[in-house]
Amino acid sequence: MISPHDVAVIVGSLRANSFSGFLARVLADVAPDRLKLRLVGIGDLPLYNQDDDAKPPAPWENFRAAVRPASAVLFVTPEYNRSVPAPLKNAIDVGSRPYGKSVFDGKPAAVASQSPGAMGGFGANHAIRQSLVFLNMPTMAQPELYLSRSAGLFDATGALTDDGTRKFLATFMQAFATWIDTHAGTGGTQA
Ligand code: FNR
Repeated sequence: MISPHDVAVIVGSLRANSFSGFLARVLADVAPDRLKLRLVGIGDLPLYNQDDDAKPPAPWENFRAAVRPASAVLFVTPEYNRSVPAPLKNAIDVGSRPYGKSVFDGKPAAVASQSPGAMGGFGANHAIRQSLVFLNMPTMAQPELYLSRSAGLFDATGALTDDGTRKFLATFMQAFATWIDTHAGTGGTQA
């Protein structure tokens, strides 16, 4: 019996009825039992300022404390102007500092993006991956998850209405569980 993995879920939209939030919820629903997904909020994080490393704001400390014990991190995000939404990039920066104390170091990761448009947030998905390389996070390559036309896939309560998509999301989470089994605790010397 493999022990459960604690997975921190970071959602890149602050919107109340965000499709990214809906997607994160469905991913938690379809994940294998041995993954325990836990949402870590980013909406209250002051903008990262290196001057404040000496006396970090409480929300930075709380965010770092919430991510630090996780075995893995799942990023679920929209795309803003073909790249990473600012609140998510800010959260990545906050968690990565102070230098040598990154809470992300060595943790396996996966990236899920969505868009009401046709390209499923591809640009944001890959822009995040660029940071994850630097952060030493082994990031699952396949399957990729670019959920396009997302507005038509959820009802008003956020429930997924498409069975084929649900099956694919379950496959994605199964692969992520296997990825975490392989990579959790194998790298990372910080924090
Ligand atoms: C967007 N949107 C968007 N969509 C996209 O596919 N590519 C893009 O580059 C952008 N750029 C963009 C910039 C800004 C500032 C906003 C507010 C929106 C549209 C976006 O995909 C849409 O608003 C989603 O609903 C956002 O995701 P959430 O909030 O529903 O999770």
